[in-house]
Amino acid sequence: MYADRVLSGMRPTGNLHLGHYHGVLKNWIKLQHEYECLFFVADWHALTTHYDNPLGIEEATWQMVIDWLAAGVDPSRATLFIQSQVIEHAELHLLLSMMTPLGWLERVPTYKDQQEKLTEKDLSTYGFLGYPLLQSADILIYRANQVPVGEDQVPHIEFSREIARRFNHLYGKEPGYEEKAEAAVKKLGGKKAKLYLEMRTRYQQDGDEAALESAKALLGETQNLSLGDKERLYGYLEGGGKMILTEPEALLTEASKMPGLDGQKMSKSYGNTISLRESPEAVSKKIRTMPTDPARVRRTDPGTPEKCPVWQLHQVYSGDDVKAWVQNGCPSAAIGCLECKQPVIDGVLRELGPIQERARAYTEEPDRVKNIIADGCERARDLARETMRDVREAMGLNYG
Ligand code: TRP
Ligand code: SF4
Repeated sequence: MYADRVLSGMRPTGNLHLGHYHGVLKNWIKLQHEYECLFFVADWHALTTHYDNPLGIEEATWQMVIDWLAAGVDPSRATLFIQSQVIEHAELHLLLSMMTPLGWLERVPTYKDQQEKLTEKDLSTYGFLGYPLLQSADILIYRANQVPVGEDQVPHIEFSREIARRFNHLYGKEPGYEEKAEAAVKKLGGKKAKLYLEMRTRYQQDGDEAALESAKALLGETQNLSLGDKERLYGYLEGGGKMILTEPEALLTEASKMPGLDGQKMSKSYGNTISLRESPEAVSKKIRTMPTDPARVRRTDPGTPEKCPVWQLHQVYSGDDVKAWVQNGCPSAAIGCLECKQPVIDGVLRELGPIQERARAYTEEPDRVKNIIADGCERARDLARETMRDVREAMGLNYG
């Protein structure tokens, strides 16, 4: 029940590029072999900033799914779905909104940052303020405990943890909860029960996190408890009631080593990208025209690889032999910049070749893509409904 479940979402922002591939997708592809994974298109999140022009979102969603599949995200391993097609996210978002203090939302750093950055848009909307809460609903509805995200999203995961805690605190106390928890402790058996209570005290009195972790591990190993009792005991540990929603953790993605064509981080807003669908001609042209060490004005001028964005690309695409060739040939002006760029061009094309071939195949079979997403949405809905049953029950809304 508390096994690792990974969930992550991406807003449909147009063609994915090599920055997404090296920074996010390769990580997802690795995770899908190690964990139960759910990956989704956050199309409602795109609406928080593009409410004035929503018509491109659907097409961008399909194209992004094709990019995921082409890059190697495997629908037989990971569940792929579209946020707006699992409307339970909206119900949870609504219910959570009732207990979310406005101050918590206003304090999320991305709120003010983005408002200041995207000045051409009016972002003083209800939906935009609620962005992190919608994200919390996305995560909590699957009881996902690991959320791979970049550094910028860490405050949102922290916010989700606080929301889960507050929810459990407010609604996790069933009538007679204390007695039920004590009865469940007895069922652990003498030795384990004693250990559990000791560790609980250590955590609650001294804030000993290690004791909390050991107690959780002890519960994890325990086999003779019902699920209800187990949940009660997880909750009892931290002083609250039943844990209805699980507190997620950020699974920090290493910052992408993929530099853009100008040496800055690759990003659409810098206009320095190579998209996954870029034609081989365009790839060659973009790399051939990218800037190099400004000291190399003439072919005979010596250069310094460390001052050149092409050298950064060699870090991603070249082996030791090629790197040594650049290290020798650039400062001695033995090689020219175009010559130096050729192995990078070859490396990018080698990487993109199979991705583009798969993208072509999926593009020619839109029904296959639709079916993959339909299956994923159905699986996601089943999981979401399970949580919503518990949430409604805890809030006294099940009208059974
Ligand atoms: N806010 C995320 C981003 O901009 C996208 C997102 C929406 C997300 N819901 C999520 C990421 C849930 C992780 C989990 O990148
Ligand atoms: Fe950059 Fe290579 Fe030219 Fe040196 S030879 S300046 S590393 S492109």
